Amino acid sequence: MKNNIGLIGCGEMGSALARGMITWGGVDPSSVYLYDINAERKGALAVELKTNTADSVADLIPHCRLVFIAVKPQDTEGLLYSIKPLVKTGQIFISIAAGITINYIESCLYPGTKVIRLMPNTPCLIGEGTIVISTGDAVTDEERKEVENLLKSLGITVRLPENLMDAATGLSGTGPAYVYLFIETLIDAGVSVGIRRDVAARLVIQNVIGASKMLHSNTVHPAELRNIVTSPAGTTSSAMLVLEEEGFRSCLIKAVREATKRSGELRLG
Ligand SMILES: NC(=O)c1ccc[n+]([C@@H]2O[C@H](COP(=O)([O-])OP(=O)(O)OC[C@H]3O[C@@H](n4cnc5c(N)ncnc54)[C@H](OP(=O)(O)O)[C@@H]3O)[C@@H](O)[C@H]2O)c1
Repeated sequence: MKNNIGLIGCGEMGSALARGMITWGGVDPSSVYLYDINAERKGALAVELKTNTADSVADLIPHCRLVFIAVKPQDTEGLLYSIKPLVKTGQIFISIAAGITINYIESCLYPGTKVIRLMPNTPCLIGEGTIVISTGDAVTDEERKEVENLLKSLGITVRLPENLMDAATGLSGTGPAYVYLFIETLIDAGVSVGIRRDVAARLVIQNVIGASKMLHSNTVHPAELRNIVTSPAGTTSSAMLVLEEEGFRSCLIKAVREATKRSGELRLG
């Protein structure tokens, strides 16, 4: 078995993984094998990235030591059972399916199979994502580091115990949606106070980028930066009062808790 990488499922997230690893991560495309039941999708990605394609799961698995599974959660169980008779010692299976536990994957393959579970988010598409990683007992530290290294080009990787995967889904997998809603609402607010929509959009988006970069480059707490822009009896202070009165914080906290709970309800295994 060669040290190749297989990817099963070339949809939204699977193609982001492949693009990131090859385009920005320096992975040799000749070491990558793609498979998707949608032959057109598989072919288009393989042409774009100059990778190999496989005709079936049975064609892909024997070539690859690392196998990424990037199909929808409801398609994962059937896929795992088709992989089971093909598993060889030393192979590592890396699943990004929301709600499918390591235990469940191990039980569909063989107990003791090396399994890694990831929770990525959509900014991985542009190399600015977050990827939460949990590993099964059979995965060594060296193997985990190897996978983390492969994923570096997609964004930051954060290691968490698997019992926090639902929380990671609620906070980080769902995270971009909170930010998009925040941006969309602020643009509407800009329009409501008389600023043209396209101008409001430029101002709001740059605000989010700028404010995030200030947090990123410093080790400062967000509250400290907020205090700096809040002068006594000033405009920001008036705005903050309204946000507190209307429950902005508790609303966000409840949203993350609800998304976490929903992730738990969808869990398999
Ligand atoms: N998108 C996100 O924001 C996000 C974030 C975190 C985690 N995830 C996880 O990422 C996984 C993939 O999501 P996605 O949004 O990339 O889905 P997607 O765009 O639907 O891609 C899945 C691809 O896999 C194909 N497929 C289905 N069954 C297959 C099989 N047995 N063998 C090979 N290919 C198969 C699908 O073909 P058909 O379309 O023809 O069925 C489709 O092309 C999911 O498990 C999801 O939970 C996604």
